[in-house]
Amino acid sequence: MTTYRYKHNDRRRSGTTKLLTLCIILIFLAAAAVSIAYLVIQTRRPTIGVNYGRVADNLPPPSQVVAIIKSLKIGKVKIYDANPQVLTAFANSGLQLSIMVTNQEVQGVGSSQGTSDQWVQQNVVAWYKSVKIIMVIVGNEILSDYGNQALWNSLVPAMRNIRASLVRFNLGSVMVTSSLAIDCLGSSFPPSNGTFRPDIASSVIQPMLEFLSSTNAYFFINVYPYFAWADNLKQISLEYATFGSSNVVVSDGSFHYNNLLDAQLDALVSAMDKLGYHNVDVSISETGWPSLGDPNQPGTNISTAADFNRRLVRKALWKPRGTPRRPGKYIPTYIFALFNEDLKPGPTTERNWGLLYPNGTRVYDIDLTGRQKVSDYSSSAPFQVTLPSVSQTSISPGNSSSQSNFGTSQQSLQQSEKSGGTQWCVVNLYVSYLTCLLCLQHLLSSSKGHWWNLQL
Ligand SMILES: *[C@@H]1O[C@H](CO)[C@@H](O)[C@H](O)[C@H]1NC(C)=O
Ligand SMILES: *[C@@H]1O[C@H](CO)[C@@H](O)[C@H](O)[C@H]1NC(C)=O
Ligand SMILES: *[C@@H]1O[C@H](CO)[C@@H](O)[C@H](O)[C@H]1NC(C)=O
Ligand SMILES: *[C@@H]1O[C@H](CO)[C@@H](O)[C@H](O)[C@H]1NC(C)=O
Repeated sequence: MTTYRYKHNDRRRSGTTKLLTLCIILIFLAAAAVSIAYLVIQTRRPTIGVNYGRVADNLPPPSQVVAIIKSLKIGKVKIYDANPQVLTAFANSGLQLSIMVTNQEVQGVGSSQGTSDQWVQQNVVAWYKSVKIIMVIVGNEILSDYGNQALWNSLVPAMRNIRASLVRFNLGSVMVTSSLAIDCLGSSFPPSNGTFRPDIASSVIQPMLEFLSSTNAYFFINVYPYFAWADNLKQISLEYATFGSSNVVVSDGSFHYNNLLDAQLDALVSAMDKLGYHNVDVSISETGWPSLGDPNQPGTNISTAADFNRRLVRKALWKPRGTPRRPGKYIPTYIFALFNEDLKPGPTTERNWGLLYPNGTRVYDIDLTGRQKVSDYSSSAPFQVTLPSVSQTSISPGNSSSQSNFGTSQQSLQQSEKSGGTQWCVVNLYVSYLTCLLCLQHLLSSSKGHWWNLQL
């Protein structure tokens, strides 16, 4: 009797110990999984992009600009050419760069594979080991240039040629696209009424969509709620144009809009749907708001520009993402622009799209990671940043061994970019979870008996 009781107690105690150990291991594994997932979310969170335009005579040298961009936590940059000084500055910066075949080069690249090969050799292959070139943009707003319609028919052939050259040089992971203005749409209101302009729909857009779809590349759109608002001051409220409305402003069948940008993007989505291309992802290659204008240009002040871009960053990077027609979809977004550019012609607004003055001072405080809630900004008082001092060492094209296996990492980066990192994260969590289960199973099968026999 005594012996039995003793034994029984002993069994109970060892059972409890086992369970305790099990609990501790489980808690440990769960914590590990959570921290891994957290790390993944942190490092894979998408970043905002910026357009680094240089139509100015007073900007800091490119090497200093790269340091500024990094200090602002901008992750990707778009430029309007493939300038070697700029590319040199981006070497080993870790920033993702999109470069451009200029409009002047499109005709030549479109008509000759040899010219295209040469372009890719000189502007991508030569830099690829040290500069994270993720995209080649063929032309800027070519279909808006009615003075040069001869170029329109060269556009898609040029895109195909650049793609073929990249593949030839084993750089097929570099995306090829073209930046178009929103005037590629003939009608855009309501969003479901979105259609491409009849003069380009079947001749240029249809083959372009075929190309983008088959290469899994973004439709790159320059889209400015500012211009739509400024052209329709009586019909469109400033709140709707600057993400300031929490109520539905436009209802379009079962789709409801509280901001103009979503409506503009969905007009593009409708137009693509009508041509049968439902799977082409959209990326905003330019958007923004001017911080200064002429006296006859309302809404062009620092506080409105700050409102627009602060809210834009939150919307682009934080959930809920997407548009009513594509809920949850991550839309990579490039703000126009990094600097005010003093040599741009036209009204005052044209020279005042920048997040920064040429001296590197911010025009208004903005957190480009989007972590800061819009309501948490104290005021729109100018926010000083000191220009980072940078050593002026220049790096020759491709003169870097530190990123020699860059090809693969770039491909995975670009894939995670397309899925916004979410899929990767889910897979990782799932793997952690499976590991937990396997450990548990192993633990239980090695402790004789079954867990349901363990007593507390
Ligand atoms: C759709 O667009 C066409 C062409 O711009 C326009 O004539 C028509 O009024 C629009 N439909 C609606 C419901 O606004
Ligand atoms: C900025 O522009 C908006 C729209 O015109 C106006 O309501 C607002 O008062 C202006 N803000 C400043 C500080 O001028
Ligand atoms: C930078 O330029 C802006 C606009 O011209 C000016 O207001 C600001 O004081 C300047 N900042 C510095 C540090 O020079
Ligand atoms: C490559 O960079 C090193 C310094 O990092 C320099 O000494 C060397 O001259 C460079 N090579 C070329 C070909 O520019």
